[in-house]
Amino acid sequence: MKTNILTEPEILQLRAETKGTTDRIHFNNAGSSLPPDTVVDTVVSYLQEEALSGGYETEDKYKQQLDNTYKSIAKLINADVNEIATVENASEAWTLAFNGVDLKKGDVVLTCEMEYVTNIIAFIQAQKTCGVEVTIIPNDEKGNFSLQTLEAAITPQVKLIAMTHIPSTAGGMIPIVEIGKIARKNNILYLVDACQSAGQIPIDVKLIGCDMLSVTGRKYLRAPRGTGFLFVKKDIQDKLKLMFADGFTTKSVTLDDYQPRDDARRFELYEKSRALTLGLGKAVDYALNIGVDRIWHRIQYLADAMRSKLSEIDGITLHDFGQQRCGIVTFSVDGVESAVVKAKLAEKKINVSVGLAKSTLYYMSKNHLTSVVRASVHYYNTEEEIAALYNALMIIKGT
Ligand SMILES: Cc1ncc(COP(=O)(O)O)c(C=O)c1O
Repeated sequence: MKTNILTEPEILQLRAETKGTTDRIHFNNAGSSLPPDTVVDTVVSYLQEEALSGGYETEDKYKQQLDNTYKSIAKLINADVNEIATVENASEAWTLAFNGVDLKKGDVVLTCEMEYVTNIIAFIQAQKTCGVEVTIIPNDEKGNFSLQTLEAAITPQVKLIAMTHIPSTAGGMIPIVEIGKIARKNNILYLVDACQSAGQIPIDVKLIGCDMLSVTGRKYLRAPRGTGFLFVKKDIQDKLKLMFADGFTTKSVTLDDYQPRDDARRFELYEKSRALTLGLGKAVDYALNIGVDRIWHRIQYLADAMRSKLSEIDGITLHDFGQQRCGIVTFSVDGVESAVVKAKLAEKKINVSVGLAKSTLYYMSKNHLTSVVRASVHYYNTEEEIAALYNALMIIKGT
């Protein structure tokens, strides 16, 4: 059981810097967390300046701050600034990486049962269009990923290992560092979906040993919606196919050829919201300032507290398997549909979400789950908010 790590005054300060915490209990951080006020102010004032001065002119003025977003992201995940591309969401980042890999008929992709729907759709597409085989490494009966099963599945045909660190609709985690060791030992490309983990858990791409890693901004990073990034290791950038290109993402263009840029920004397109790029950078700096290791500690403390409180309620079933647990708590209430639980909690100004089977299809189907209630904690949540959730669930259960 984790102890609390952030002091009471610190929590109060962090909440005071987040307007959304005043009037509502937000346990939908795995959907989209509440941004710090400074992130919102940064975006709004940039947009206002664009309106007054012109989009390109404002970009010129803020060039250094915009570049700093890339530096901050690089620092967050221990990468080089040339290995970062910013995009609009994790699905885009992941798909750019996956579709960039030159997969052919008979090639095998190894994955886990916690994959997100976007990734599953891309696997199906690759199976249908290029005859790629996708092998799912199942969790064991306790819900832990089996490294032995992964090792046993390695053959010369395996061209890619693609793993989701933290699933959308379960509280378990995949051991991405240990998997990375296996990928490196066998010289296999390694793609990590860190959509739910960036900002929640320290991420170090060198420690993980991954070649590509995809992230969204709005979840545990507390960035605005419509932001995300892709990490692509320097030495594999030339090996990935480009899905699209424009004048900014190319270094040179002649009448019959072009050369992509020498960095990961070749995977972007030029036109994007500069206001959101700045907001993303601000949110990453905010997390770095607190310290992601401290954030992770506090999240585990709160998630443990929530699981233990909910387990006291008769008729509530927790669905988080595996040894390693994160800030996502999933459960169901006997006799009450997940959507109804969500709606009743919303009446009490408590935000949770419903995890549908399609989000994490392999896992949900295997465990015969059609939907779960997802209550995801962030460091700015409190024990009092957990108590309020408990009380509200007691009432829902009794009705
Ligand atoms: C594990 C995981 N991967 C990827 C995604 C996709 O993120 P986005 O909606 O930013 O594309 C999600 C979204 O919920 C997710 O939970």
